Formats: sequence, structure tokens, C-alpha cells
Amino acid sequence: MEAPQEVLRRAQRRRKRCCISTAVAAATVVLLAIVIPCALLLSDIQPGPTQPAAILLPLYIYPSRNAWEPLFNAVSTNQEVNFTVIVNPDSGPGQSAGPGNDYVSAISRLTAAPNVQTVGYVRTGYGTRDIDTVLRDVDIYSRWSQLANGLAVSGIFFDEAPHDYSQQKQQYMATANQAVKESTGIREPRLIIHNPGTIPDATLDVDSTDVTVVFENSFQEFERKKEALRALSGDRPDYSVMVHSVPTGESIGKLLRDMSREAKYMFLTTADEGYYDHFSSSWATFVDLMRS
Ligand SMILES: *[C@@H]1O[C@H](CO)[C@@H](O)[C@H](O)[C@H]1NC(C)=O
Repeated sequence: MEAPQEVLRRAQRRRKRCCISTAVAAATVVLLAIVIPCALLLSDIQPGPTQPAAILLPLYIYPSRNAWEPLFNAVSTNQEVNFTVIVNPDSGPGQSAGPGNDYVSAISRLTAAPNVQTVGYVRTGYGTRDIDTVLRDVDIYSRWSQLANGLAVSGIFFDEAPHDYSQQKQQYMATANQAVKESTGIREPRLIIHNPGTIPDATLDVDSTDVTVVFENSFQEFERKKEALRALSGDRPDYSVMVHSVPTGESIGKLLRDMSREAKYMFLTTADEGYYDHFSSSWATFVDLMRS
């Protein structure tokens, strides 16, 4: 039979061992609680794009008081980032000669920054919209330069551009492009962007298109299409990629690195609806990461 004292000592040793392992476990939990968020954070402050990149921002927001403030802030605090801003007063330039005073002052303030150029939004209805209406829209943007110096656009963003080839569609887009390149009211470089939102047929090759938006879809879809985008034959400056519905918690830095492999012009947002009618919670992080 053990002496009662021996039993007591053994129990004390057991308690001590138990105490030590509890302390080790607790310390591990605390350490992980610090290390994991730090690692996540670090993975997000690592450089974004691996090659020169620019933001292509669909700014479909009315410039009411303070509405464009997140953009003005981003532009002035990130002067090494280039912004190509798509202005869109009324699903196009609208019917009247000018876009209205709110737009005139907001756009002028925007283009006063050296790292901003604007392009005017024009819908083409996948090559079905009356071409004369399209040309009139281009003409209205071109005349903005006469209303105020800072109002002049530097190009046109043709939304709903066709992705499938037909001779008619090819001709239609070529006519639209020519109007832009010949508009003296549009500033150099008279950047022409086509947005089919997907990779167009290789046969649909419209002369003088500068940039094609080869992807405009959700993050989930981007993960599926990455390989196909990587196989594109053109150079990065020929392409734009726009990703919406980026899940919160997803590494924006990593996504930007993926996107920048295929395209120079980029946009992403965590918004999963009304993607372009507000600045999402990811806006500031996105712009910050574009700086690297
Ligand atoms: C931004 O644009 C300017 C003027 O076009 C150019 O010189 C500069 O290299 C661009 N910066 C980046 C990071 O692409």
C-alpha cells in the first residue's frame, strides 16, 4: 500500500502536467489567432499587379454632393496609379449638348488630375443599335470639349460590343471606331474600348480597337475562365478584365496578380449587384494594391 503522502504527490504532479499542457494549448491558440490574420493581411499587402496596370472604372454614379469623393480621394492619394474613367450620364451622353452642371464640374475636377483620362460610354446593342444613333452619341461627347476644357473625353467605351463575327458586325464596329479616331473634339489617344464582356471570335478583328474587355463577370466565373484568358494571343495592353462579386475575405492582391497576367486594364468589386453604381467596400484596397 502506498503512503498517503506518495499518492498526494503523484496527484500534484498530474495536476501540474495537466496545467502545463493546458497552458501550451492556450498559447498555441493565441499564437494562431495572431499569426493567421497577420498572414492573411500580409498576403493582401503583397504587391498586386505584377506588370504595369491601370484602373478602368465604370463610373455609373450621378455626381451628387460627395458621390464621387471616394474617386477624388483615390486619385489624389495614388498618383502613381492611372485611372481610365468611363463617364456615363444617361446610358450614353444623353440627348442634350451638355451633361448638366453637376457633371461639368465633377468631370472637370476629375480630369484636372494628371493620372486620369475619361472615356464616354456608348451602347451598341451587340451591333444592333441604329448606327446613326451611335455616331450621334460619339459626336455629342466630341463636342463636350467646346463646353469646358476639362470636359473633353480621351476616348469611347463601346458597351455591348458584339463578340461573334459577321461581316455586318465587323463593319458596324469599324464605322463606330472610325468616327472616334476622326473626332478632333476627342483628345489623344482617342482610346477605343470594346466591351463584349467575353473573349470575342478571333475572326472579329476590328481595326483600331485599342482595348477589348475580354471578361466581365463574377469572381467564380473568373476562376473558371483563367486558363482560357491566359491563352489569348494579344498583348496585355490590348485587354481589360472586370471582375464583380469578389467574396469578402478573398485575397484581392492575389486576384489582381491573376488578372494582371492577362490584362493591363482592370476593375474589381465585391459588389454582387449594381456593380458600377456605387463604390464597394473593396474600392480603397483595390486602388491601394494597384500602386505596386
Ligand atoms: C501612367 O500614364 C502615364 C502617361 O501616359 C505613363 O507615362 C505612366 O507610365 C503610366 N503609369 C503606369 C504605372 O502605367
